[in-house]
Amino acid sequence: MIDITDEEMGSLTLSILKRYGIDFTCYEPKSLRRRIIRILNKLELTSIHELWMHFLKTPNFISVFMNEISVGMTSMFRDPILWKQMKIKLEAEFIQKANFWVWHAGCSTGEEVYTLGILVDQLKLGSKVSALATDFNIEALAEAQAGVYHKIKMIENEKNYKAYCTTTDFRNYFTAEATEAKLNLSLIRHVKFEYHNLITDSFKSGFDIIFCRNVMIYFDSIAKTRMIDKFYDSLNEGGYFVIGFFDTMSHLIDNRKFKLVDEQAKIFQKI
Ligand SMILES: C[S@@+](CC[C@H](N)C(=O)[O-])C[C@H]1O[C@@H](n2cnc3c(N)ncnc32)[C@H](O)[C@@H]1O
Repeated sequence: MIDITDEEMGSLTLSILKRYGIDFTCYEPKSLRRRIIRILNKLELTSIHELWMHFLKTPNFISVFMNEISVGMTSMFRDPILWKQMKIKLEAEFIQKANFWVWHAGCSTGEEVYTLGILVDQLKLGSKVSALATDFNIEALAEAQAGVYHKIKMIENEKNYKAYCTTTDFRNYFTAEATEAKLNLSLIRHVKFEYHNLITDSFKSGFDIIFCRNVMIYFDSIAKTRMIDKFYDSLNEGGYFVIGFFDTMSHLIDNRKFKLVDEQAKIFQKI
């Protein structure tokens, strides 16, 4: 079992900051440490010193490293209850709108984006919705746009779908191939994918719904609070802010700015 001291963590993150300008100070130390240990194991390295030598000897290792650090655990219809509630909200409040704008912040490989695409298709909202899907992992964004998922992942996706809806067949939305499934790209017709770093880049505004699920777990409380303020500014009045089931940050959300409208589904509304 590899152990990394606080000093080693500090010297690695400082070296990365100096050499590549990437700042890890906002990352939650325990989860960063876990991910670095995973990288060491994967590369069969035994210390932070060896990892740094690997950085120096391997061109472009920084992008491999960043992708490993931010690798997204995600699935379609993750937390089915949220999508049931979201469908009810879209049906009750968004069908009558002329148009609305959604942001998937930290969209990873796109499963959340296709999930909303299916809701949009089921409710025939395609002509009203536009969406922005962003992440700072370029490879994940490319996968999101390709919409090809391994059949093992599709087992989990289908299980979640069945918990969300039993009346329509999940298979309507993809073409199964030998080892993969190709999602219907018409589901993301309304989506623009863009590179965006939530820590360093500015936020667009005018959104009616922002999903930022299971992303802020990487950040410390100060970064989370700053980010929540920026999401607040990005939302239209009455707009929804949706966080992940394991984003333990409800206490950081100011109840003068956001109303908790669905505790179970973790849906907040800008007041
Ligand atoms: C666990 S995935 C979440 C995917 C999806 N939102 C969900 O809940 O299923 C977390 C994503 O956050 C992204 N991420 C982490 N830090 C980020 C940052 N500073 N800016 C943008 N994206 C970031 C990662 O690249 C990763 O794709």
